[in-house]
Amino acid sequence: MNKTGFIFDLDGVIVDTAKYHYLAWKNLAQELGFEFTHEQNELFKGVSRKRCLEILLDIGGVTATQEQFDSWMIEKNEDYLKYIEKMDETEILPDVPKVLEYVKRHEMPIALGSASKNARPILEKVKLLSYFETIVDGNNVTKAKPDPEVFLIAAEQLGVRADQCVVFEDAQAGIAAANSADMISIGIGDAQVLSEADYNFKDFTEIDDGFLKKLITQE
Ligand code: BG6
Ligand code: MG
Repeated sequence: MNKTGFIFDLDGVIVDTAKYHYLAWKNLAQELGFEFTHEQNELFKGVSRKRCLEILLDIGGVTATQEQFDSWMIEKNEDYLKYIEKMDETEILPDVPKVLEYVKRHEMPIALGSASKNARPILEKVKLLSYFETIVDGNNVTKAKPDPEVFLIAAEQLGVRADQCVVFEDAQAGIAAANSADMISIGIGDAQVLSEADYNFKDFTEIDDGFLKKLITQE
């Protein structure tokens, strides 16, 4: 039987780090003299750190020198890391371990495919690192989602054909990336926002063994 490669995004799929990204960007916006709202934070999902800062500065109408830009990138990340520092297993989103366990028990390979450069320390903090055969993250890619690069590298490292991979994603850009990699895309979150996904679930509590079995046997 052919293996199915399981690829998981991190932020918003495995852990709810969007709230910490939000706090750190909000702190920076405040320092620069403008407000940054929850709604605006939606635009940051799945988007690289650099692109997020560009969007933030656009929102605030702030122009930056290269030096300022670089130092704000560092400042935001240092602030974000203070929140990450305190993370533990309680921050894993509901039923994520149930799904990882099922996939592992059926000996299917698992990869992480994330835009974050902080993926590895976060997985360590929440004690999920050992499930992943490979971590492909913001440190390994040159092209951001919706480009499929991150998922294609993950498939290659798992030794599984792209069209035999499934991707769990909470961001529109991530679903677009999975679709253009010819993978099965599974939207986690708002089905209206993620309407391009092949399947939609509010969260992992809605995913049962029957569905996972279907993915593995590729019926
Ligand atoms: C994505 C998040 O997973 O990672 C984005 O959804 C974030 O909001 C991006 O900007 C980069 O993360 P980091 O940890 O490298 O700043
Ligand atoms: Mg995400």
